[in-house]
Amino acid sequence: MLFNPPSPLEIKVLTKRFGLPNSAHIDTYLANDGYQAFVKSLDMTQDAIIQEVKDSNLRGRGGAGFPTGMKWGFCPRNSPKPKYIVVNSDESEPGTCKDRVLIENDPHLLIEGVLIAAQAVGAKAGYIYVRGEYRYLIDILDKAIGEAYAKGYLGKNILGRGVDFDLYTHTGAGAYECGEESALLESLEGKRGQPRIRPPFPAVAGLYQCPTVLNNVETFAAVPSILQMGGKAWADLGVPKAGGTKLTCLTGHVNKTGVYELPLGFPVDKMINEVGGGMRSGKKMKAFIPGGSSCPVLTGDEAWPLTMDYDAMAKAGTMLGSGGVIIMDEDTDMVKAALRIMHFYQHESCGWCIPCREGTTWIKKLLTRLNNGIGTGKDIDLVGDLANNMLGRTFCPLGDAAALPTASIVKKFRHEFEAKIKSTMVAIPAAANNPFVVV
Ligand SMILES: Cc1cc2nc3c(=O)[nH]c(=O)nc-3n(C[C@H](O)[C@H](O)[C@H](O)COP(=O)(O)O)c2cc1C
Repeated sequence: MLFNPPSPLEIKVLTKRFGLPNSAHIDTYLANDGYQAFVKSLDMTQDAIIQEVKDSNLRGRGGAGFPTGMKWGFCPRNSPKPKYIVVNSDESEPGTCKDRVLIENDPHLLIEGVLIAAQAVGAKAGYIYVRGEYRYLIDILDKAIGEAYAKGYLGKNILGRGVDFDLYTHTGAGAYECGEESALLESLEGKRGQPRIRPPFPAVAGLYQCPTVLNNVETFAAVPSILQMGGKAWADLGVPKAGGTKLTCLTGHVNKTGVYELPLGFPVDKMINEVGGGMRSGKKMKAFIPGGSSCPVLTGDEAWPLTMDYDAMAKAGTMLGSGGVIIMDEDTDMVKAALRIMHFYQHESCGWCIPCREGTTWIKKLLTRLNNGIGTGKDIDLVGDLANNMLGRTFCPLGDAAALPTASIVKKFRHEFEAKIKSTMVAIPAAANNPFVVV
């Protein structure tokens, strides 16, 4: 089994239909409140829908945490151009596996969220951009989309209400960079997946340079419950500046890994000890990543007193990110961890910006050397310098995503890098007596 059973500490709003027999089928969805929020939205003004989303304090679940209602508000609804809805289902950030769980269990929740967004901005077409490796999700989504067309929730004159909306799936080719919103749009248009220079942002000039609402799967999936409960009630589930629940992917050295729906502001210690069943083998937590491998790493001591919300994590010098929590116990080799993380970003750099392409390559070489115990103290400093020089100097945040965890690991676990150098240092006999040295 990939995931452990649900925890009684969860607040099941987005995941409330998980576990129902045939939960991905439209009949199950319709029998359990499905499409009711969309029907409600048909009688609301666009401003009223956007206001509910603003009131909910929903922040984007793809990683950056941008307020969703505000983003929708930026879309120029009176533009004569077509408007589009784009779902970011690229989910490639190490540690993050929530969007796939949402789609596997309840694809109609995503479709309903997309329909409401389309109502809010007047879009007539939408695309779900799915990570290439998630091929099986395309089948689930295509089936669900087919069911929605058959029942009159997609297509022309939806429910006889004069609303048209078409929805398509699109498969990526397995490039992490295509999760970055502007690279995703390039890829969706059939071009090489490289980021665009911004501004303009997608809300104004997105797909085919038309106004586009682009959000993460979980963000769209939150919208039906916001309309049903009312934005304010949804906001109250979370903390003042971040409403609702968050799907948290608990991974690493805990007893019960899994995807859990927890209210924003949930305490880290409770999440690990009660939801996650404690640290594996009762070990100490050495390091904590709150939201996917691109977040700065915290030490266990730093993480235990925190709560899982955007502001608390920012104050602690990291990010809530996508909710991909990675727990590392006392036996973790942090030099190896830094190398493993950098290996990913070096491989996934699209290569367009020099600081990202060259920075990730050089840092990986240095980390390999340090991990092999043949580095020097200067190499440790150089890793830190290179990481700091990448920060903020690339067209998209992939450079930052590579630099932030590296810089934090070097800063907080420097002693482990030094120990690796020392443990493999051999005493070199004086040159005159050394058969390997030509004098
Ligand atoms: C390199 C990179 C990869 C990203 N990958 C994803 C992803 O897989 N899924 C996602 O929703 N957002 C991803 N993002 C964030 C998106 O650019 C964007 O902020 C997000 O889709 C917006 O949706 P939201 O406001 O609902 O979070 C990525 C960003 C970067 C820089």
